[in-house]
Amino acid sequence: EEAKLWGGRFEEPVTPAVEKFSQSVSYDQRLWRQDLKGSRAHASMLALQGLITEKDEAAILEGLDRISDRIESGEFQWRADREDVHMNVEAALIDLIGEPGRKLHTARSRNDQVVTDLRLWVRDAIEQIVDKIVQLQAALIRLAVENREVVVPGYTHLQRAQPLLLPHLLMAYVEQFERDQGRLKDCAERLNYCPLGACALAGTGLPIDRFATSDSLGFKAPLRNSVDAVSDRDFVLEVLSANSIIAVHLSRLAEEWVLWATEEFGFITPSDAVSTGSSIMPQKKNPDPMELVRGKSARVVGDLTTVLVLCKGLPLAYNRDLQEDKEPLFDSVETILGMLEVTREFAQNITFNVERLSKSLPAGHLDATTLADYLVYKGMPFRSAHEVVGHAVALAVAKKVELKGLSLEEFGAINPIFEEDVYSFLGVENSISKFRSYGSTGADCVAEQLKFWMDKLAGK
Ligand code: ARG
Repeated sequence: EEAKLWGGRFEEPVTPAVEKFSQSVSYDQRLWRQDLKGSRAHASMLALQGLITEKDEAAILEGLDRISDRIESGEFQWRADREDVHMNVEAALIDLIGEPGRKLHTARSRNDQVVTDLRLWVRDAIEQIVDKIVQLQAALIRLAVENREVVVPGYTHLQRAQPLLLPHLLMAYVEQFERDQGRLKDCAERLNYCPLGACALAGTGLPIDRFATSDSLGFKAPLRNSVDAVSDRDFVLEVLSANSIIAVHLSRLAEEWVLWATEEFGFITPSDAVSTGSSIMPQKKNPDPMELVRGKSARVVGDLTTVLVLCKGLPLAYNRDLQEDKEPLFDSVETILGMLEVTREFAQNITFNVERLSKSLPAGHLDATTLADYLVYKGMPFRSAHEVVGHAVALAVAKKVELKGLSLEEFGAINPIFEEDVYSFLGVENSISKFRSYGSTGADCVAEQLKFWMDKLAGK
């Protein structure tokens, strides 16, 4: 049993249960790249400030390179008795290079070290998530382009409402994912300040240069307050919140596609490559990936909840509780990356059943609101038009016909204002051709939206 790096004042070792309970290296080893990067920057700053010699610096940097190679090749021995990634690396460095290794932790605490690592890690994670979102958006836009003219029933309350161009509906999701990216980029901006040099909580009396480490790690500036620097995990909460919103968006999309893949809807057919079968029912072909996207959104929301509750009772400054921020963070990022990727693959593997869709359009009087607009053109107040069309719908329902199946006499009996031109407003085709407001489902508006996204995704 080797002595702990912090062992000076201790007379007996921790119990095995405590050691096992408090280790974090089993999961925080994934911070190793960030940890080495932070250590390199710190060592170089110490040398520049004359706190260690250039020879020490060279030995440390070389030792860190060797550690990096060993970790990369899987040779590195991660040791639970060395607690966490930071002490595993530092102790290994001392094993490798001896005395100079004992100088690396000058003017540094694991408290500023861990949160520096974490900020660097989250910065990278955000880039990866944004990348995956863009790929999903591209897949949705491709689907929209391939189905440019397809009309689908639009729903409110899951009851048939008004007709929509399919690209319009798909681009609604693309818009949501754009804001999701925006939220992530906002957190990336806010988190990009450097905690290193805050040390345990109070800073240090040694002549360090926090601006130098901040610069060399690509941060905008050092965090202004050392207590704040080691205490807060709001940047973790922000990315977990942004992920939760993405998860909720993906879950809604998943729900829609699961529904559309049912016999009852039959709007889409997922390919076999994104479907799974039943162990008992031979006929089954289930959209499991999308159900799992819906299901995994629960974890992502749970991860946010975990860290919110973790932080809420903590006094300043660092508390060991904060070690528990990592697993939910890693889980959330990993889960959201998987959800985005599988959703993109699903989008690339569905066919819209155009015939079935068009056969379904006459049901549900999707043109009723357009008919009310017709009466507005004729000078009728909208509220009266609503009522008149309501009577027409009631008659159509009773006669089991579409609105366009009512004769002019029947319309006339409801209200004399109807004329022959009413039929140019009826039927889904006519109805959808009337839309023209900005952001509407009208063909021109949708074409404009599509152009916007195609340009944007092409980097124009
Ligand atoms: N593994 C610890 C964490 O993740 C590093 C900081 C430990 N600091 C301490 N004073 N025990 O938070």
